[in-house]
Amino acid sequence: MNESPESYLLTPGPLTTSLATKSAMLRDWGSWDSDFNELTARVCRRLLAVAHAEDTHVCVPLQGSGTYAVEAALATLLPRDGKALVLMNGAYGQRMARILRYLGRDFVPLDMGDYLPPPPERVAAMLVADPDLAHVAVVHCETSSGILNPLEAIAEVTRQQGRRLFVDAMSSFGALPVDTRELPFDGLVSSANKCFEGVPGFGFALLRRGALEQCVGNAHSLSLDLYDQWLYLERTGQWRFTPPTHVVAAFASALDQHQAEGGVAGRLARYVHNKEILVSGMRAMGFHTLLADCWLSPIIVTFHAPGHPNFDFETFYRLIKQRGFIIYPGKLTQVDSFRIGCIGQLFEAQMRGVLTAVRATLDAMGIPDGSPRPEDLDKPTF
Ligand SMILES: Cc1ncc(COP(=O)(O)O)c(C=O)c1O
Repeated sequence: MNESPESYLLTPGPLTTSLATKSAMLRDWGSWDSDFNELTARVCRRLLAVAHAEDTHVCVPLQGSGTYAVEAALATLLPRDGKALVLMNGAYGQRMARILRYLGRDFVPLDMGDYLPPPPERVAAMLVADPDLAHVAVVHCETSSGILNPLEAIAEVTRQQGRRLFVDAMSSFGALPVDTRELPFDGLVSSANKCFEGVPGFGFALLRRGALEQCVGNAHSLSLDLYDQWLYLERTGQWRFTPPTHVVAAFASALDQHQAEGGVAGRLARYVHNKEILVSGMRAMGFHTLLADCWLSPIIVTFHAPGHPNFDFETFYRLIKQRGFIIYPGKLTQVDSFRIGCIGQLFEAQMRGVLTAVRATLDAMGIPDGSPRPEDLDKPTF
């Protein structure tokens, strides 16, 4: 439970962390010291176990935010003359395409716009039509709309076509189950400050050992070369360059708390409960979710902005913040929206608290209910 006087973060990370996680940062660690090396090794082992990947994959941590890890993993895994299929339905799929452009790697996009899911049968058809597409890159939970993409079905068509899968599981890993024995991937990336509820400062990639062994010389950048980072870690137990020691210590504590909560299943159950309280409470006030129930994730939910002329997001945000909750702006290009997160140290009391804050804010703004403009609901269905 958050015991500080700050606002609760109902955002997709950085998020509200526990006192135990914050307290774990009160000790200083030598970056080369065996105690810290053991901490790193323990964290990596635990992350591999979460994906049931201990026998097949390695875990390579990398300093920086999640995007650094995505860029490093793509740069390391994709051969310079390789070609990838990039599935896009929001900002983070688009970011992978942008990274590949920077890297000068060839790719084909399947762009579904703001929020429509990539249909697995179209993925399959594109792979059949172009045998050079060796990799498929997909975002698990596209945090910009909150949609939970059909990862299992995409992994299956990728496997059937003999291609390799790369997953940006930034906002899902730790809460949504991923089992590499059933969902084979060459690379999966996430970061410390998402569903494991650590603080920001590093990301990590789970990489199939057999694939990584073939990646020497792929990366264009020394600091983003995960092959080199892995070799050094294997040889010395140390990160190549200054590690975020306190962040790793906080993460180790956060992983213990994750396990004590029942691991992935326990965390998922709490987030699902948070989402259900949130969605039913918001709907009771007239708000509409962007997505149909089957696509909603227990990570973050996008709501249409109220259509009432008094609504403006800045005021709405400020008044909710005054009541102790920080929500998140929308990231859609076509309709006005905002997002409320379900992850972090948030429980039923906080979810009910944010609903009370939203109601009081609507009242203060003279808005009777959250119903959107009818034209905003006039969108493609799926
Ligand atoms: C799915 C996804 N990918 C990538 C990122 C980028 O991570 P960061 O902002 O830590 O660089 C995020 C951030 O929320 C994300 O949700």
